[in-house]
Parts: sequence; structure tokens; C-alpha cells
Amino acid sequence: MPDPLTPYGNKPMVTPIVNAVNYEYKSFDVLRQITDGEIDGYTYHRDDNPTVRAVEKKIARMEGSEDCIVCTTGMAACSMVYFTYLKAGDHLILFHDIYGAHYKVSLILERMGIEITWLDASECDAIERHIKPSTSMIFCETPSNPLCKIIDIEKTAAIAKKHNILFIVDNTFATPYHQKPLEFGAHMVVHSATKALGGHNDLMAGAIACNKADYEKLWFTRQALGTTLDAYSASLLERGLKTFDMRAERMAHNAMAMAEFLKGHPKISKTFYPGLVDDPGHAVASRQMKNGFCGMLAFNVGNSQEDAKNFITNLETIYHAVSLGSTETLICIPYLTTMLYLPPERRVGFGVEKNTVRLSAGIDKTGLLIDDLKQALDKI
Ligand SMILES: Cc1ncc(COP(=O)(O)O)c(C=O)c1O
Repeated sequence: MPDPLTPYGNKPMVTPIVNAVNYEYKSFDVLRQITDGEIDGYTYHRDDNPTVRAVEKKIARMEGSEDCIVCTTGMAACSMVYFTYLKAGDHLILFHDIYGAHYKVSLILERMGIEITWLDASECDAIERHIKPSTSMIFCETPSNPLCKIIDIEKTAAIAKKHNILFIVDNTFATPYHQKPLEFGAHMVVHSATKALGGHNDLMAGAIACNKADYEKLWFTRQALGTTLDAYSASLLERGLKTFDMRAERMAHNAMAMAEFLKGHPKISKTFYPGLVDDPGHAVASRQMKNGFCGMLAFNVGNSQEDAKNFITNLETIYHAVSLGSTETLICIPYLTTMLYLPPERRVGFGVEKNTVRLSAGIDKTGLLIDDLKQALDKI
């Protein structure tokens, strides 16, 4: 039987999409060698898939990790981390400034006997005060969703190490083009690969960059839960990675230009972007981020949600849509979308307002984006 990755002896330029659920065993001896872990081999899609494996190796290289495990969505990746490393009685430190769906997962974790402390990212200097003997994980985003708050990865990693706690960084906003949390001491890096890694609004995937031992543990969870990515999405993800650096560079360039424009605008009361020199996260971001400050920013429009809605309705180049990190520039009101999972009083507790908008810079021409922001603001 030809090797599916090199069917004619010559290596194809593109990893073949192996759409098989199962694989014919060459012999009982091969079956035993595979199940005993003596040789790498494929048996059943929920266990592993060569198209998925190829993209895992690429993401591992990008994050500088020994290995990487890819799964169905970013939330699947986050949940696999929680389910693999937490048990009843453990204490987990989370941040309010984190993608809204974590709140839903936190309700499940609490039902399973896990205690959770929610902190504001601006309190990250005080993390140590919240550590208990049962604390087993700190999970953060930096820059955070949606306010782009910055957590000092090196400092938090040192605290985590001192107390023997796992420290996980969701690197979705930053992307490995701008930030490599493992270099600063994080244990694992999580991604919604749906976003900038895929980059084209056409696939959902999650990824966890980690060492070999953690790969084995997370593989067990993925195989048990059945969160293995399909081969077609893996192929689209691999295709997205080919242009990732160029897209990331352009998105950060556009975000910086838009942040600078918005900051001085009379109808914008606050702009959140770590690339701005007076942003509270700028100093730390300058230490741990490189090649710019990522493609995400947030800002408060006018005085009310009506102002923010009118502004968005008047945009012509920028799309009103959730998600982020794609070729198109996207904008949304977190209070009405990504944070809808949270009870209303929790949506505004840590800096997000009803008129806060989150903007994900695409790869459009910078001038077109500035002109669009300007004309839409002129109308409110
Ligand atoms: C920072 C971050 N992490 C994780 C997720 C979840 O990703 P997915 O939608 O692929 O499940 C999101 C989604 O927006 C996100 O913004």
C-alpha cells in the first residue's frame, strides 16, 4: 500500500488530505507494534491522522515547543487543558479579561469540584496573594480579549514555578509572530487556530503547544473526548500557516495605524492597544512582544451603545462580525457578542463598557481602513 503522504515516491508539495476513519492493518504484528507504541502508525481517526499530525509539527516549530496537539476548536483546546490537569479540590486562577466562553466552562469546572478565583489582569502583580496550597493552574491571555491588557509572562511564570503551578498562556491575540510565551517560562501555549493561524474565516481549530510528556497526556484526553480535528480543516490550517508571517506583520501594522488615529479622535474616549506608548501594558508588552503589538485593539465610541452601533452600521470596508485574526478587518461590540456568555453585571466589571468595540485588523490597505473609520465617526 503506498504511503499516503508520499503516494508516488515523490513528496507532494501539499500534505495530502487523508480522509480515512480507519486504516487496514498490514498484519497482527504491526497492530501490536502500533498499540505498544513501538512504531508510529495510524489506526482510527479519533486517535490520530497524518494531515493533522503534519500541521501539529508546524505549529510546534512556530511556538518553539517539542510538540503540539491540534483539536476541533480553541475552546476544545482550553477545555482539554482544564480536563487533563485539574481534579476535584484543585484551585484555578483565571482572569476576567479572557474570552467569554471560559465563563461557561468555569461553571462546569465548579460543578466538578474545582475552585476558581477570577482576577483582573491589572492585578497580575498580586497573583501571589491569591495562591493557595490547592492552586494547580494559572490560565491567562496576553494581550487579553477584548481589552488587550498585558500580563507579565516572565514574572507570572516565576511565581508559578516557585509554587509548582502550571502556567498556561492563550497566545491567540499575540500569535507566535509577536510573542513566544514558552521562551518566557510558560508551561504550555493554547491557540484558537480558528483565528490568525488559519486566518481566512473558513475553519475552526485549536492547538496546544507543549513538551512531549504533556503531548502524551493531552493526546489521551483528546482521544477519550473525541476532539480530534478533521483532515480537511487541518489542510486549510496548514495552508493558512504558509502566509501567516506576512499576514501577522500587516495586521499589526494596520492595528498600530488605526490605534494612533483613534487615540486622537474627539469621538473616541478610550483606546486600548499595547503598542501605544501611554498604554498601561506598553512597557511589559515591549519586553515580551516583538515585530509589533498584534492586530487587535479596542476603543470606546461616543457616549453610548447607540453611538457605537451607529458607528459600526456606517462602516463600509470593515465588517461587523465576530472572530478575529482574519484577512478581513472585523469589528464587534463585546458586550453584545463575545461576552454574551457572562451575566450582564460581569460584562462591565473590569473595564469593558457598553460602547466598547473590539477591532481585528485585517490585511487591507491601511489608508482604506483609516478612511473608513473617519467617515463612520463623522456620521455619529
Ligand atoms: C483568545 C481566544 N481564545 C479562545 C477562543 C475560542 O476559540 P474558538 O472559537 O476557536 O473555540 C477565542 C474565540 O474568540 C479567543 O478569542
